[in-house]
Amino acid sequence: MTMKKNTWLKDRKLKVLIIGATGMLGHRVALEFLKDGEEEIELILWGGNRNILAMDFFNEQGYVKSVLPTCLIDTSEVDLLLGVVNPDVIINCAGIIKQKQGNDIKTMRDMVRLNTDLPLQLAEFVMDRECTLYNFSSDCVFSGRKAGFYKDDEPDSPSLYGRTKAIAEMASLKRNKIKTIRTSFIGYELSGNVSLLEWLLSNKGESIFGYNQAIWTGVTTAYIARFLMEEIRNSGKYISQYHKGVCNLAAQPISKFDLLNMVVDALNLNIEIKPCYTFIEDKTCNRALLPQHLFKWNAPSWDDGDCEGELLRDIVDEYKIYQEWRETE
Ligand SMILES: NC(=O)c1ccc[n+]([C@@H]2O[C@H](COP(=O)([O-])OP(=O)(O)OC[C@H]3O[C@@H](n4cnc5c(N)ncnc54)[C@H](OP(=O)(O)O)[C@@H]3O)[C@@H](O)[C@H]2O)c1
Repeated sequence: MTMKKNTWLKDRKLKVLIIGATGMLGHRVALEFLKDGEEEIELILWGGNRNILAMDFFNEQGYVKSVLPTCLIDTSEVDLLLGVVNPDVIINCAGIIKQKQGNDIKTMRDMVRLNTDLPLQLAEFVMDRECTLYNFSSDCVFSGRKAGFYKDDEPDSPSLYGRTKAIAEMASLKRNKIKTIRTSFIGYELSGNVSLLEWLLSNKGESIFGYNQAIWTGVTTAYIARFLMEEIRNSGKYISQYHKGVCNLAAQPISKFDLLNMVVDALNLNIEIKPCYTFIEDKTCNRALLPQHLFKWNAPSWDDGDCEGELLRDIVDEYKIYQEWRETE
C-alpha cells in the first residue's frame, strides 16, 4: 500500500515520532511502522526504562532501530527534544496505566504529569506547527454505571486514572490537529505481567476467575497499530476529517469471562477459568464503548460465530513470536 502523496513533503519522508515505544501499545505500533512503513516514513522512537529491551526485540524481528530513553516527567527536556526532532506526526503511547498506580503522592503526581500534562504539552506543541498528534484515552474515563458510552458522553469516572485521561481528552475537542483515540486493548508486552493477557499467560496450570459481569469492548494492540498505519498513510500529516476529536475505537462487546476462555482455547493453554458473578469494585462493570463508523473500520469481533474473529486471530498469530522472545529475555 502506498501513501497518499503529500505535496508539502516534497521529496522527504514523513517524520513520525512514537513516544512510549517501550510499552505494550507503543512497541507494537512501532513494529507495524518498521514492518510496513520504512520507505515512506522516518521513524523516531522515544522510550522509558525498557529501551534496551525494545531495541533487542526489534533486532530479533530483523530491524535495527534505536529507542531514545527519555524522561517524560521533565517538561523542559521534552520541549527541547521535540524542537530537535521537529516531527510531522506524533503518536503518544506513553502513560501510567491504572495497574501501575500507587497511592503515594509521587506516583500520583507522575500519573497527572504523564496522563494529563504531557498530552497537553504535546497539544500545545502541535498547535503552532505543521504537525499532528494522536493521544490515547481509555474506557476508564467512564464509571461503567451505565452500559454503552458514545464518544460525546460526559466522562464520569471517580478514579484518578480516569480523571487524568478525561482531562487530556479535552485537548482534542474542536481542534483538527489533535486526535484522541479512546479505547481499551490487550496485547503482548516486552516484559512484566501487569496486562490482562500477560497475567493470563503467567497462570498456566492454574485456576483463575473470569468476571462474567465485566463487559468489555477492547481490541488488540495489533489492531490499533493497523488502524494508525492506515490513518497515517491516508492522511499523512493531516487528521482525516472522519476522525477528528475523540473517537471510540471499540470491538463488539464481550465479557471478560468469555474473552479469557476464548484465548485459553485458541492458544491451547492449560488454565481453568472459573465464572465469578459476585460484585467486585472495578471488576463487574460495563464500560462498553459504542464505536463510530470509521471508514471500513466497523467494530471488529473476537468471535465470528464458528471461527475466530479478527481480534482473536491477532492473539493467536503473535503468540509464538512473543513466547520465543520471552524465553530469550
Ligand atoms: N492498557 C490498556 O488497556 C489501555 C487502555 C486504554 C488506553 N490506554 C492508554 O494507552 C497508553 C499506552 O498504554 P500501555 O498499556 O501500552 O502502557 P505501558 O505498557 O505501561 O507503556 C507506557 C509507556 O510509557 C512510558 N513511560 C511511563 N512513564 C514514563 C516516564 N516517566 N518517562 C518515560 N517514559 C515513561 C513507559 O516506559 P517504560 O515502561 O519502558 O519505562 C512505556 O513506554 C497509555 O496512555 C494508556 O493510558 C491503555
